[in-house]
Amino acid sequence: MLFRQEHRIIMTRRDYLELMAAGAAATATSHTLLAAGGDADREARMKWWHEARFGMFIHWGLYSVLGRHEWVMENEGIPVAEYEQIAKRFKPKPNAARDWAKLAKASGQKYMVMTTKHHEGFCHFDSKLTDYCAPKQGPGRDLVKEYVEAARAEGMRVGFYYSLMDWHHPDGARCATDEAARQRFVAYIHGQIRELLTNYGKIDVLWYDVSWPLDAKGWESEKMNDMVFQLQPAIIVNNRNRLDGDFATPEQRIVAEKRAWESCMTMNDSWGYQKADDDWKTPKAIVKNLIACSRDTGNYLLNIGPKADGSIPEESVKIMTQVGKWMEKSGKSIYDTEVCQPRRSNFASFTRKGNTLYMHVHFWPGDTVALGGLMNKVQSARLLATGKAVKFEQEKFRVRFVGLPEKAPDDPVTTLAIECDGEPRQDSDFVRKERPRDKA
Ligand code: GLC
Repeated sequence: MLFRQEHRIIMTRRDYLELMAAGAAATATSHTLLAAGGDADREARMKWWHEARFGMFIHWGLYSVLGRHEWVMENEGIPVAEYEQIAKRFKPKPNAARDWAKLAKASGQKYMVMTTKHHEGFCHFDSKLTDYCAPKQGPGRDLVKEYVEAARAEGMRVGFYYSLMDWHHPDGARCATDEAARQRFVAYIHGQIRELLTNYGKIDVLWYDVSWPLDAKGWESEKMNDMVFQLQPAIIVNNRNRLDGDFATPEQRIVAEKRAWESCMTMNDSWGYQKADDDWKTPKAIVKNLIACSRDTGNYLLNIGPKADGSIPEESVKIMTQVGKWMEKSGKSIYDTEVCQPRRSNFASFTRKGNTLYMHVHFWPGDTVALGGLMNKVQSARLLATGKAVKFEQEKFRVRFVGLPEKAPDDPVTTLAIECDGEPRQDSDFVRKERPRDKA
């Protein structure tokens, strides 16, 4: 209870304690908000990212030398002392990242996220905190610097992937049970993040990965993010340091989340170079995935796993080049899209911008493409790739786009841009219930 006596406020001890606790909570909240910048700030920081929709993930590390997946060290139980030796043999060609950045640009990607340190613990950047880093090992130079310069030269936004889990650091496992080890390890990890966000100019994305074996408290993740935003006020961070961050990171699957999300995916079944992995997705599968992300306003972070010399596997180049050709003509239907309600078709998928519905036909039916249950009046339609007008006939339950070529005019997906008289909406129930069933 508070007793007001003229201008004096008298507090009981319990009041005092409660007030202090509330104050502490308020400070913590404003601190967290400051770190994440609050909603308006987040919106501003993430604007470019939402518009971008498509990014390149790059998994590159010592594992690329072995060519048996980025988990090879753990999966094959390779001792640290043996694995470390690879660092001396890792001698990539100069400026390999330029080819990555050129390919990213040609594919219609707008940002890149490179592994600066994966679980194996090897750092591609110059670190004062370890000798296990590119300038002091085989490469003899700072590969993160090369990457950053290459990305910027192609107009790409720059992201850093950084694995918290570390199989190499002596404290990387025992930090879970030994407080002195935890403090050393957390100082090391925070220190490296500080180096990364201090030494390379403006960084656009920080992509934490695997938080084993600590929780947010153990990692001091609040403090980590505070430091990150202090060093890079405009950056965006993901949610893998056990805090929510700015965006969610569904992996190898496309699921719309209730918040900003980015689906990361491999082009075959491995992130790091795996020379025997021939399970490649087709350009069509990639384009369909990109559309699926864009339809629900998510991003698609598509991975390449360069070889030890830095070159991109030929198959990835082929696939990305085809995706890029499609994006060149159809990117408009992918970038900066808005939530799209229509989704029912067994041969097409959809994205939307304003009143324009993009119908992406992946199994081309021939000279007529039909859509059921579109509740808007169609005003015009055209082939997105060429701009050529498409004739259409609209009835109550369907609209048919007619006079189209027998063979799909574009590859791997043909996109129709359909201008509607309002925000496109499809109602399949309406078709099912109301469609006349008499045969007359
Ligand atoms: C998983 C894997 C890791 C990969 C990451 C990408 O966490 O452990 O190897 O880097 O997915 O999201």
